[in-house]
Amino acid sequence: MKLDKLILAAKKARDQAYAPYSGFSVGAAVLTKSGQVFAGCNVENASLGLTICAERSAVAAAVVGGKKDFEAIAIVANSNKPALPCGACRQVLAEFSPSMKVFVATTRGEQHQFSLSALLPLARQGLFENRDV
Ligand code: THU
Repeated sequence: MKLDKLILAAKKARDQAYAPYSGFSVGAAVLTKSGQVFAGCNVENASLGLTICAERSAVAAAVVGGKKDFEAIAIVANSNKPALPCGACRQVLAEFSPSMKVFVATTRGEQHQFSLSALLPLARQGLFENRDV
């Protein structure tokens, strides 16, 4: 799977964003280890706090599709600088694939790559991993 295709899937999903409150549409697409792509967009809510980010909506789509091992995610927004996933999304991604790649891009084509482990260090060293019960 070429990176361009993953970014295109995120871009297409962005067109479906429901973002009447912020006006900031975001698309995301996860690439599974088996080569499948699942896309998501942000889904806002009048409560604001119940908003679902594009990244988490893509992860939920993948889980519904029976896939939980991710190679990478691409995130596309129409901002001056690419949008990085929020802390909540980093943790949700780390639940399944703590060392996956994170590609962030703008609609104009600026692109950067991170590893999730750099964005959320020690993600799996927490309570549930270490508990002895
Ligand atoms: N948003 C995402 O969906 N993903 C990001 O990486 C950054 C922020 C959404 C949440 C909200 O709907 C809007 O962008 C403004 O924060």
